[in-house]
Amino acid sequence: PTLKSTHTKIQEWYKTKGRTDLPWRSTSDPYHIYLSEVMLQQTQVKTVLERYYFPFLEAFPTMHSLGSAALDDVLKQWEGLGYYNRAKNLHKTAGLIEEIPDSIDRLMALPGIGKNTAHAIAAFAFGQPVPVMEANVKRILCRLHRLRTPDEKRLWKIAYSMVDKENPFDYNQAMMDIGATLCLPKDPKCNRCPLENICKGKNNPEYYPLKKKK
Ligand code: ADE
Repeated sequence: PTLKSTHTKIQEWYKTKGRTDLPWRSTSDPYHIYLSEVMLQQTQVKTVLERYYFPFLEAFPTMHSLGSAALDDVLKQWEGLGYYNRAKNLHKTAGLIEEIPDSIDRLMALPGIGKNTAHAIAAFAFGQPVPVMEANVKRILCRLHRLRTPDEKRLWKIAYSMVDKENPFDYNQAMMDIGATLCLPKDPKCNRCPLENICKGKNNPEYYPLKKKK
């Protein structure tokens, strides 16, 4: 199969089976996308969606309002989400800049924005042809290529070689949805997966990736 035919499959799957109704997927406001990606770094979609995303935006509707707010008020809004450094860094970043930058390097220079979040903002807010690689996507890539001990550099290389440059937004959202709903850690739904015909780990996922010893 060609890369192009795989992209077509992924895009078609996303249109009918993807979580296209998530509110941060129907906005192009970089601030909204930035906020959602930081919340989603360590918190499940359901919790962010039901309890935190909208109230936070109501309290701090713009970067400027967030940057000029008192840190205590920001922390109060974050209460219950955990990993409070995220809230401190959001506040700090909003105080430093007026606009979210569109380059991955400048994004990564900001407090609280790591490589993956920078890629997510570049792809989702600015339509850049770059891959997003959170934990679910890593698992997909490991299984596709039967990688047992994922090495970050190798995974990013694979991710870059696979991204759909025509529609990086839908491609990346789809990959996260495939990871969250089909390519599950246990009992993955390979027969429903748009990647099944290119997956070397199909129906044999248990060792990819190999679980780290605790
Ligand atoms: N996790 C990180 N970014 C996400 C997004 N845009 N949609 C769903 N889950 C995510």
